[in-house]
Order: sequence, then C-alpha cells, then structure tokens
Amino acid sequence: MDMVRLEPPAELTMQVGEAMFTQRATRRLDPDRPVTDAQLEIILNAASKAPNGGNMQPARYLVIREREAIAEFGKLYFEAWWAKRRDAYGWSSKADIPADSPYRLAALLADEMVNAPAVILVYSEASGVAASSTFPGVQNLLLSARALGLGSVLTTLHPEVMDRVNAMFGVPEEMAFHCCIPIGYPRGNFGPTSRFPTSATTSWGRWGEAPPWT
Ligand SMILES: Cc1cc2nc3c(=O)[nH]c(=O)nc-3n(C[C@H](O)[C@H](O)[C@H](O)COP(=O)(O)O)c2cc1C
Repeated sequence: MDMVRLEPPAELTMQVGEAMFTQRATRRLDPDRPVTDAQLEIILNAASKAPNGGNMQPARYLVIREREAIAEFGKLYFEAWWAKRRDAYGWSSKADIPADSPYRLAALLADEMVNAPAVILVYSEASGVAASSTFPGVQNLLLSARALGLGSVLTTLHPEVMDRVNAMFGVPEEMAFHCCIPIGYPRGNFGPTSRFPTSATTSWGRWGEAPPWT
C-alpha cells in the first residue's frame, strides 16, 4: 500500500491539553445531529498518525453510518454487553447491578448504542503486536473527536456476537477485533472526569518511591 503524508487539519484547533483533560466517555449521543464524512475523515487521519510497531500499521477501521445498520448493530451490542455481565457477575438485568457500581453507567450504553450517528469498529490484521499497535491510534481517534466537539466512548464486544457482527459487515475471518467506538454530538455536556492522583500511581527511580509532587 502506498503511504501518504498529511498536514494537520485546520479544524483541529483545540489545544492538546484541553482535548486530553476534557475527553471522557460519552454514552448519550444525539441521533438527530449528524457527524459528517469530513469529520470522520479527520478522526481517522488522526488515528493513522499514531505510533505503531515498525510502522507496519496493522489497524483497520470499519465505519458504520446507516441508521438501519446501527440499529441492527445496537441490538448485538446490547446482547454482548449483557452476555459479558452474565459471564462475569451473573447479572441479567439492571435490577441486578449494585447501586454504587460503575456498570450502572456502562449499562446505559447498551441501551444507547442504537442512537449513535456513527460507530467505528477497530480491527487489525492479526499479528503479535497488533493490539499495542492499534490502541495509540484509538486514543488519537478519541482525542480528535473531542477536539471537533464530538463525544465518543471506547467499548468492547463479546465472543457470543462476534461472528454475527463480522457477517453483518462482511469482515474477513483473519481480522482481529479490538474495540467499538460510537461517535456523535453529546446529549448533555462533557463534564469533569476524576482519576487517581499520579503521585499515588507513579514510582520515581525505584518502585514504591514517591515522585516529587503530591
Ligand atoms: C478497554 C475498555 C473497555 C471499556 N468498556 C466499556 C463498556 O463496555 N461500556 C462503557 O460504557 N464504557 C466502557 N469503557 C469506557 C470506560 O468506562 C471509561 O473510559 C472510564 O470509565 C472513564 O470514563 P471518563 O473518562 O468519563 O471518566 C471502556 C474503556 C476501555 C479502555
């Protein structure tokens, strides 16, 4: 495949710090506010620029745009989400999810996937470094979506639905699936995120030694 050199798109003007520090999981997307092909091109070009082993670029992206296809995919996503929770916790409905569980929010996405204006499925040509060579691109994708004012969330599927998803979109057998990212304008705002302090997650020079900040 021939390679191309791309200039930074004029539309990506948000400071990288703002994009990184305000990007978050956006599960409620507006089905009536379309995402344009030009926006998706920018997002996928940004993904293509990410680091990857040996510049072999194993990542491949499937963009789903048609409402009926997203509706069909949304049904499989719903099935996959609950299959995962059934396997892990024995849950089969929202009533089974403890009130303080973060899965309460994630369960929302199982209902909301059908409303996404666009869904990107991320695959790679199977190889040993494929996952680690794919996720830097996924992060670029999420950040560039944020910079365009679009919400997104990274999620996965369950083996139970994988064959049906691949058959639905004609994905060749040898492709390895990594994640699924619905994209659209948020219903609501981006809101703050909270994380562990890096003073607690970082060792300095020797494991367990604190870094020079608190
Ligand atoms: C590997 C991975 C799997 C994820 N799976 C789901 C998922 O199944 N459903 C969901 O709603 N969010 C999923 N997320 C999104 C996380 O829940 C989200 O990034 C995390 O809670 C932080 O959210 P915040 O940035 O809004 O604070 C996943 C994220 C990653 C990296």
